[in-house]
Amino acid sequence: MSLIVATEKLTKKYGDRAVVQDLDLRIPEGCVYGFLGPNGSGKSTTMKMLLSLIRPTSGEAHVLGRPMDRATRRELLGQIGSLIESPPGYAHLTGAENMRIVQRLLDLDDQHIDFAVRTVRMQDQMNKRVREFSLGMKQRLGIAMALARQPKLLILDEPTNGLDPAGIEEIRELLRRLADGGVTVMVSSHLLGEIDKTATVLGILSQGRMIFQGSRDELFSAATPDLLIDCSDPHRAQGALARAHGCQLENSTLRLTGIEDDRAVAGVVAALVGESIGVHGVRRDEQTLESVFMGLTAGGGL
Ligand SMILES: Nc1ncnc2c1ncn2[C@@H]1O[C@H](COP(=O)(O)OP(=O)(O)O)[C@@H](O)[C@H]1O
Ligand SMILES: [Mg+2]
Repeated sequence: MSLIVATEKLTKKYGDRAVVQDLDLRIPEGCVYGFLGPNGSGKSTTMKMLLSLIRPTSGEAHVLGRPMDRATRRELLGQIGSLIESPPGYAHLTGAENMRIVQRLLDLDDQHIDFAVRTVRMQDQMNKRVREFSLGMKQRLGIAMALARQPKLLILDEPTNGLDPAGIEEIRELLRRLADGGVTVMVSSHLLGEIDKTATVLGILSQGRMIFQGSRDELFSAATPDLLIDCSDPHRAQGALARAHGCQLENSTLRLTGIEDDRAVAGVVAALVGESIGVHGVRRDEQTLESVFMGLTAGGGL
């Protein structure tokens, strides 16, 4: 597996305070990497270090196989598209005029510009002034500006921030299309629902530290979902089980946490049957990424 971004103990301190600490990012080529974390957890700071917009206090970042530093910065940035914080673009100019500025700056062919504009599906809006654009259109123009140089890596900082559900879905669909076209996308969000299904690899940040990095499947298998039991006498069952397990009653269903394997499940059922309580149903709770995420970031605050 080849990595398009790899960092070693990447750290940024402001004064004594580490806002990003000992980060080992691993972004495989061709993936959509969802970079998730609550506000203030260090996502933008990390992305700025990858783009060499701010200097790490310690640690290293390798991007496209090379160390990102003053000597390599110019060349590497030629292969990276980015959208950090508010979307770029001059408000008093049209979309087309803004793209023309990018074209001149980077000395690009018309085809590059056309391709970028078509990719974000903005070809019919380009004669409007940017100040008349919706936020979603501004984000898409910003992505087109980042795409014009045909980057291998696209770094997007909260591109879905402030968008309505339709706008969010448009960005998701765009990210999937880009990844299908061979661009590696690193995309951040503080709202996990906005990118969770689009991302193939997830990195979850809390207070400047990576608390999980891997595939969605790995994330789910790292946490055991609660066991839910329906039985004939839930109140008595709760009394009987509370001693051995964290057992809560929700409506008339018992919720047990930390019941890891089949043997433990059998033990719980046997305990209830031993108390002459009829067991009607035993199932695992549906595990959402939201619940796993909340569990991981507990104490970090959202
Ligand atoms: N230039 C700076 N000086 C001091 N603190 C900063 C600076 N930039 C960011 N921070 C702090 O670093 C933390 C992480 O910020 P940031 O990377 O923007 O988080 P996120 O993008 O995840 O919301 C925040 O607590 C923020 O206040
Ligand atoms: Mg941020």
